Amino acid sequence: MNKVTLHTLSACKKAGEKFAVLTAYDACFAHAVSEAGVEVILVGDSLGMVLQGQDSTLPVTMDDMIYHTASVAKGNQGAMVMADMPFMSYATPEQTMENAALLMQAGAHIVKIEGGSWLAESVSLLSDRGIPTCVHLGLTPQAVNKLGGYKVQGRDRESAKEMIEDAVRLEQAGASMLLLECVPSILAQEITQAVDIPVIGIGAGVETDAQVLVIHDMLGLNPGHTPKFVKNFMAEADSIQSALKNYVSAVKQGSFPGQEHSFE
Ligand code: KIV
Ligand code: NA
Repeated sequence: MNKVTLHTLSACKKAGEKFAVLTAYDACFAHAVSEAGVEVILVGDSLGMVLQGQDSTLPVTMDDMIYHTASVAKGNQGAMVMADMPFMSYATPEQTMENAALLMQAGAHIVKIEGGSWLAESVSLLSDRGIPTCVHLGLTPQAVNKLGGYKVQGRDRESAKEMIEDAVRLEQAGASMLLLECVPSILAQEITQAVDIPVIGIGAGVETDAQVLVIHDMLGLNPGHTPKFVKNFMAEADSIQSALKNYVSAVKQGSFPGQEHSFE
């Protein structure tokens, strides 16, 4: 695969072509995922749950993220590597710059941070210094204790309006991408149309510019509760490689997610 850049992804959005994102945490899966045609590999702090067995993403450290980002970068074959900034590593603009730099030096091409318009200053500082950001809106798992659980966000008019305003504000501040988790499909569609930057969705309906899943979930490795937005692509595949390829083509064709994976 040719090297995927921000330019590639905004050209996709302009042309109305969807792109695929999956998590990976090591060189071997990064290799498989990028060979399958996934445009963006997310080194998610979901590794706290799927690799470390924690019950939230809060215990994940900068050292964990640096280690896994470096591993993914080694196996990657041309995809864009997006690294999550872990809980409290971007509490102030200064901390954000220092920690984002460490992830970029480990091999990330873009960093992801969770929150709303309070992140505008950090996004703008990073952008000025050549570090692109993706801002994660909606269900932000690092804030699970404040949100009172893993719940769909933006269901009422007030919070939906606020999410749209946050999205526009963050784009103006210099964000290069947005990620929407667990929001009603209609709101995700509205946000996707309101901004020019690519919008990735998970549990956000089929109208976003891209889709992401945790790789363990889409390979059917989910010992606990399976969220509504997950589809097991191993159920109809005879190898991990073909499950990955089927995911990529389902995302590009718009056949995943279906209504049964979305919130109304
Ligand atoms: O950490 C992660 O895997 C994520 C995705 C669920 C979007 O942030
Ligand atoms: Na994450």
